[in-house]
Amino acid sequence: MQRGKFITIDGVEGAGKSTQIDFICSYLAKKNINVILTREPGGTKLGEKIRELLLSIDTKLMDNDTELLLMFAARNEHIKTKIIPALKRGDWVLSDRFTDASYAYQGGGRGLSIERITFLERWVLQDFSPDVTLLLDVPVALGMLRIKSRIRKDRIELETNDFFNRVRDGYIKRSKQFPERIKLIDASQTLKETSQQIKVILQVL
Ligand SMILES: Nc1ncnc2c1ncn2[C@@H]1O[C@H](COP(=O)(O)OP(=O)(O)OP(=O)(O)O)[C@@H](O)[C@H]1O
Ligand SMILES: [Mg+2]
Repeated sequence: MQRGKFITIDGVEGAGKSTQIDFICSYLAKKNINVILTREPGGTKLGEKIRELLLSIDTKLMDNDTELLLMFAARNEHIKTKIIPALKRGDWVLSDRFTDASYAYQGGGRGLSIERITFLERWVLQDFSPDVTLLLDVPVALGMLRIKSRIRKDRIELETNDFFNRVRDGYIKRSKQFPERIKLIDASQTLKETSQQIKVILQVL
């Protein structure tokens, strides 16, 4: 049985991740590839409970290290109980956000040390990594404009533009560090043009 591929999609709020996930799912369905769609934080029963803790505005004053540790606790559960078993069955897995988001949000956004994040990454992931990461890059203001009609914001969505600019920079830094795996996509283009950039990447996967 051939192992499935693990694709992650990342980027700031409103970059178009959910929209492009629909495109990717229908593209893979046409190729008769069975894909499991999942997300972070979350993706498992326990992980979704951790997601609620992370995103609830009741916990406005959460310590940054607590936030980082909860992200990796949820990720540990996600990888071991869902992602790896699916890949071993031969299914493909598509995750809406993954470890690069910890580098961007908790590293870039919150300013936590990259060494600490790398320590947790080695602990939880060991040598496990996505086959490809689609990094949808948009200027923060454009992403915000796209989601401005959303009424209820979560704890992280309530952050400032400066915070999200640091997140975006954190993502770009990661893509420069891992150019083979992380494909930087200009998501400020139209939906169709953005999907086309993704299609070119999927075709050679
Ligand atoms: N390339 C694009 N051009 C114009 N509008 C877009 C584009 N991509 C997405 N949108 C629109 O922007 C809004 C946000 O897109 P989407 O929900 O896919 O973003 P997201 O990255 O999943 O956001 P979040 O991080 O909040 O989950 C949607 O209304 C979507 O239709
Ligand atoms: Mg989304």
